[in-house]
Parts: sequence; structure tokens; C-alpha cells
Amino acid sequence: MMSLKINTKYPSITDLRLRAQKKIPKFAFEYLDGGCNEDVNLHRNTSELRDVQLQPNYLKNHTGTSLKTTLFGIEYDAPFGIAPVGLQGLMWPNSPEILAKAAFNHNIPFILSTVTTTSIERTSELTEGKAWFQLYHPTEDRLRDDIIKRAEAAHCPVLVILCDVPTFGFRPRDIRNGLAMPPKMSAKNILQILGKPHWALETLKHGQPNFETLKPYMPKGLDLRQLGKFMDQTFSGRLNEEKIKPIRDMWKGKLVLKGVASEHDTEEAIRLGLDGIIVSNHGGRQLDAGQSTIKPLKTIAQKYGDKIEVMMDSGLRSGPDVARALASGAKFTFLGRSFMYGVSALGKKGGDHTISLLKTELQQVMVQINCEKTADFPNFLINP
Ligand SMILES: Cc1cc2nc3c(=O)[nH]c(=O)nc-3n(C[C@H](O)[C@H](O)[C@H](O)COP(=O)(O)O)c2cc1C
Repeated sequence: MMSLKINTKYPSITDLRLRAQKKIPKFAFEYLDGGCNEDVNLHRNTSELRDVQLQPNYLKNHTGTSLKTTLFGIEYDAPFGIAPVGLQGLMWPNSPEILAKAAFNHNIPFILSTVTTTSIERTSELTEGKAWFQLYHPTEDRLRDDIIKRAEAAHCPVLVILCDVPTFGFRPRDIRNGLAMPPKMSAKNILQILGKPHWALETLKHGQPNFETLKPYMPKGLDLRQLGKFMDQTFSGRLNEEKIKPIRDMWKGKLVLKGVASEHDTEEAIRLGLDGIIVSNHGGRQLDAGQSTIKPLKTIAQKYGDKIEVMMDSGLRSGPDVARALASGAKFTFLGRSFMYGVSALGKKGGDHTISLLKTELQQVMVQINCEKTADFPNFLINP
């Protein structure tokens, strides 16, 4: 029998989330935790994923389980990775570094966001060139080429481009909180910070978080409005063939399209020569009236899984959730908030703890249903 080698105080992502809520200022927690508009899609992602059920095979021979999963020719130690998250240093200082290092130690992929608080170069150093990079599409070709060259020089194996942010999501909490980088010192925000002394001390110690990858290109000290304007001018959210083609021509590594939610966009990705897609709705942060990701995943994986690597994120909060996604046809999965809850709750130990927890939970499911390899999960799906 497997033993649970994890911090016994936080044996679930829910525990980590609650702890994170207590530890970090409200404006930071709400940025992390929220969806968009009325949060319908946010909740639907997890609840509809959890409708997926698995069939155990108790009386079959069992020779052991392995979480190892090969993706793009690389063998990872688990079938899940860390999704790109912006502004990570706002939730906890050094959190992208903490997560990148933990991902490296556990041999799982870490995806660095263009708009997070550490740089491509620093992440590459921490992960010995194993981290993936997610590119927001720059308006200027020169900037695009410069960032891509930096990712290439950093030995990044996979470039992720994003199709689900043609416009900013409408997020009432962030609007109310006047969320800015660095955090705006309104009386309300100062009060929230004073209520979280550990966060305040750590943040003071590490200094103000910045967009390290973008630093060479941006003016200093922008508030929310100015930041919005800078982002608007610097990045052109809507992707199309014209924008994807030059990236495909330039990027020699694997190229992945994230934010796919339809068969049409999957077919386009295949036609344009992408190597993989992440079926994702940005964790319910963009289109509140959209579908949960588990819905399109099943058809997309079934129809196109032999033509392109089909991965999935949005709504996963446990090992059983990873199992549900794999059983529904995803080759690999990513989680965003779960890891940030872990680091916000436990600081330096949060990355390692969250990865260990998910691995332990997933392995328990595999032993329980008698699934020996992650690729075998679809055999255990109870058809709806
Ligand atoms: C606070 C936050 C910031 C995010 N920032 C980015 C980003 O900069 N780039 C990106 O591709 N996705 C971003 N995402 C989306 C995640 O990569 C991922 O798709 C999502 O978190 C998955 O859903 P989950 O949080 O339910 O696991 C962000 C998500 C959150 C929660």
C-alpha cells in the first residue's frame, strides 16, 4: 500500500486555497481565484469535469503503475504540468521561480507566461532549459522576433501561443480592486496588506515585482489604466493565419496553440503545422457564457488525437481530476490556480507540496482502478 508522503495539514487543493486566502491580500487572492463576469464558466469547468466517471477493474492482474508520460519526445514524471500564470509575484514573491524549480525537480513542464514576474533567461537557468514559454502576440514584428530569439537562446523546447485572449476578460473584482503592477497603494489596498504581515514582509524583502521578460521594452511604474494601454499597444490578442505562419517558420521547436475550444480551431492548428493544442478556456477567465473544457475535449481528442497532441487545462483541482481529463482523451494536462494556491499558502515549499500531492492522488486512482500506464486511462472511462 502506498503511503501519503505529504504535509498532513494540507492534503487537498481546497485546503491550500483556503490557506492562501488567509495569507495574501484580498486584491491578490481575488485576481488569482476569480473567473470573469459572474464566474459561471469558472465553476462549470470543475463541476462538469467531475461528471466524468471511471470504471475500476479489481480482479485483473496488476503489475504496478507508472505516472511517466512522453510528450513531444520528452519523458515527464507525471502527466501534468504548470500552466502559464501572469503577475505571479503579486500573489507570492518569487512564486514563478519556486514553481519552475519544483517543476524541474519533479521533471514536469513549467510554462512561463510573457506577463509574469520572472524572465525567460532566469527560468531557463533554474530549469536547465526545460521550461516552456507562452507568448502573448506582439503587435510589432521586431518585438515578436526578439522575444522568440530569447526563448530559443534559452533552449526552450516548446513555444505556446494563445488564441483565447482576443480581448481582456471582464473581471469585476479586479476592476473594483484597481489591480495594478506594482499594486496601487490605495487606502483599501494598504489596509489589506497590513492584514497580511507575512506577505508584506516577504514582499518587502524581495522587492517590488516586475514584468521581468518585458522590462527591456516597457516604461516603469504603470498603473492599471496605463498598463492596459501598454498591453493593448504592445500585444495584439487576436491570432490568425497571418500571425501564426511567421512564428511557425521561425520557431524550430514544438509549437502549441493554447485556448482551443472548437473543432474549427483544432483543424486550423493542424493545417498551420502546429504540434499540439491545449483545449482550454483560460480557467473560465475570458468567456463566462462558454462551455466547460471537458465538453469539447472529448470530441476533439477522438477526432484529431492522432494528428496533433491534444492537451487540456481549466478546472482541474485534484489527482482524480487529472485522471478524468486523461480518460476523456487528453494526452497531458495543466493546472493554473492549484499551483498558485500551493505557493501562496506554503511559500517556498508550496511547489513541491502541490506537485507531490497531485502525484500521490493520481497514483492512488491508478492503483485503485488498475490502470498501469497514463495512456491507458481512456480504457476506464464510463461512457456517458
Ligand atoms: C491568475 C491567472 C493568470 C493567468 N495568466 C495567464 C497568462 O498570462 N497566460 C496564459 O496563457 N494563461 C494565463 N492564465 C490561464 C492559465 O494558463 C490556465 O489556462 C488556467 O489557469 C487553467 O485553469 P485552472 O486555473 O482552473 O487550472 C492565467 C490564469 C490565472 C488563474
